[in-house]
Amino acid sequence: MKETTGARESFGSKFGVIAATAGSAIGLGNIWRFPYVAGENGGGAFLLIYLGFILLIGIPVMLSEFVIGRAGQQNAFGSFRKLAPGKPWYLIGLMGVAAAFMILAFYTAVAGWTLEYIYQSLVNGFRGKSPAELELMFSDFQSGSFRPVLWFFVFMGLTAFIIMSGVKKGIEKSTKILMPLLLILLLIMAIRSVTLPGALEGIKFLFKPDFTKITTKSVLEALGQSFFSLSIGMGTLITYASYVPKDNNLGGTALSVATADTLIAILAGVAIFPAVFAFGIAPGSGAGLVYITLPNIFQQMAGGYFFSLLFFVLLGVAALTSTISVLEVIVAFFTEELGMKRKAATWTATALVSILGVMSALSWGALSGVQVFGQTIFGILDYASANILLPLGGFFIVLFVAWFFGRDNARAELGNNGSVRTGYLPFYIFIIRFIAPLCIAFIFLQGLGLIKV
Ligand code: PFF
Repeated sequence: MKETTGARESFGSKFGVIAATAGSAIGLGNIWRFPYVAGENGGGAFLLIYLGFILLIGIPVMLSEFVIGRAGQQNAFGSFRKLAPGKPWYLIGLMGVAAAFMILAFYTAVAGWTLEYIYQSLVNGFRGKSPAELELMFSDFQSGSFRPVLWFFVFMGLTAFIIMSGVKKGIEKSTKILMPLLLILLLIMAIRSVTLPGALEGIKFLFKPDFTKITTKSVLEALGQSFFSLSIGMGTLITYASYVPKDNNLGGTALSVATADTLIAILAGVAIFPAVFAFGIAPGSGAGLVYITLPNIFQQMAGGYFFSLLFFVLLGVAALTSTISVLEVIVAFFTEELGMKRKAATWTATALVSILGVMSALSWGALSGVQVFGQTIFGILDYASANILLPLGGFFIVLFVAWFFGRDNARAELGNNGSVRTGYLPFYIFIIRFIAPLCIAFIFLQGLGLIKV
């Protein structure tokens, strides 16, 4: 990719834009994180609140990032500085880069688990194991000191390799075919899961809201999950939007991406929870939930060997298109702001992320005794990035567009200077001026216990 001067490289086609952005959004957040967080927060009511946040706050934040990135034509930090010279708004970009380090570290550790599960699928390692044995198999793996670290490095290396090869070639190609395939496979798994004996309990858990299970903390977790899943609040989509051609309809892209992302999360829920109940797994089992549950489903499927292998490969690819988007935030910042070459930037970022990443990968093993605010290193990175940094980022991003960049500039960017209709604009502006910032601030302060209303 070209660096600070000259023409910036861009995504090639409309479908390329959607594929790359959806590739960033769809990943472990939908298939690993959504079920485990929903499971810990009581299921149905959490899902409803989550959906509300996607619509009311998530899509407007996504649009705002698109506006900033495509108008700014720079990395997350540089776009703010260009649109607001001499003003401290660029600090949002810096916070985003910090969040990218944290997310990439623990996320890549989980992505590494996918590689272990590809390997286990290959060698038929799940075969004949009872649900209890599969649970043990996962916790044995997770608490080890060698394989979680090894797989972390393999996955980090893959991510770095793709980033070094540039925007177009690397990102676009890998997403176009594989994401639709993932959707189809999830659908097949969901069908198998809901036809298991005892599946109904899981459907009820996911779709029957029980608001007595909701606390202010779970509302914040629903907000954090919606941000995490859509890849918003830290400048990933600012960075990607800077590569989006000027004739792309940003509103349409946001809607397609949010819809695809939400569909995949719900489908993952439908594949997981019936099986969770059918196999007697605790829905609140935490970060291992999906890895414990899925092999059980494959054991009950005709062609389970094949499906399991295919699924974990696709999950790995979905994770990869997300890790590259996070690494791109850091690398674009290093190249454009610090004047580094793309290769050097990638190596530096990878080395720095790896420090936190190894600590994350060891959070159930050698470093399980190391606690920060009562959580493991993995736990605190996961919790704080989604529930603190992303909402804070989202808060300032909407404020920036609403009150600084302004309605007219936003209209020009969203409407491609008059060539695309923006009938939704008044609604969007109203939300980003008042609703989104007030909601985020309130939920954030309540959820962290800083105010009590
Ligand atoms: N949205 C990704 C997922 O759901 O897996 C994770 C992610 C990617 C979060 C990029 C944040 C981000 F900036």
